[in-house]
Amino acid sequence: MSELVAKRLQVALQAAKEAGDYLIRTKREIAVDKKGARDLVTTADRGSEAIIRQILINEFPEDVFFGEESGGTDAAAFSGLERVWIVDPLDGTTNYVRGFTDYGISIAFYEKGRPLIGVIAAPEKGELFQAVAGQGAFLNGEPIRVSQVSTMIDALVATGFPYEPDERGGNNTDHVANIVPLIHDLRRMGAAALDLASVACGRLDGFWEFGLSAWDVAAGILLVQEAGGMVSGFAGEPVNIFAGRIVATNRLIHQLLLAALARGQTGFVAK
Ligand code: IPD
Ligand code: CA
Repeated sequence: MSELVAKRLQVALQAAKEAGDYLIRTKREIAVDKKGARDLVTTADRGSEAIIRQILINEFPEDVFFGEESGGTDAAAFSGLERVWIVDPLDGTTNYVRGFTDYGISIAFYEKGRPLIGVIAAPEKGELFQAVAGQGAFLNGEPIRVSQVSTMIDALVATGFPYEPDERGGNNTDHVANIVPLIHDLRRMGAAALDLASVACGRLDGFWEFGLSAWDVAAGILLVQEAGGMVSGFAGEPVNIFAGRIVATNRLIHQLLLAALARGQTGFVAK
């Protein structure tokens, strides 16, 4: 691992831990607001992002910081950037507000459009996932691998639903209706970064969603790939973090899940 990556990994892990401690501490004192009819944002989302941003930018002032709550780049600008952090300071805000423990922090570091570091923390579960390109994926320091399930009937699969279904063309129910009869069971946990981490460590065999943003998936993609899994768009094309559509699996069920998705009528207009 290069010194550049090793140093950034240590700082990203520290930022995830500090933000996680803050999220647990501040839980009872949050004020909840709305970004859209169903899209919640809290003082904790903003506080967590401020902590992560301060730690990363203090150490690496030359890097670009792209966070859900403060913005910073889009697909066009991103492709020209040398080094960029892509951060979701609180993924699963609804779970956090409602007292579920399935929420997390997602921190990714990209160089010239390529993921080099992915860190996902689930603070209330005491779980810290990390991956470095070419170095494998880990949960609390132990190596993780995707599952060995190879049939849809044995597959535990997760999905999610866009908060703004009308704007984004469909609400995923068509795919759910097609896929549920094929699989062992479906989960909707409510935090896309944790869904991807769950594919990486073999708790889930697959995950699909559309209407996601770059910060939801930037770190999880690397975790899944480094754990031996496969990530793509809905037609099997290379995943694009700005396209909003993602299919992530243990590799063994990838083509089966893509075939099931191809039967769906739900449209999606990329943002
Ligand atoms: C949300 C979660 C959810 C997904 C939504 C995301 P947020 O992130 O990842 O699982 O279905 O599309 O927006 O808003 O809690 O950071
Ligand atoms: Ca968020």
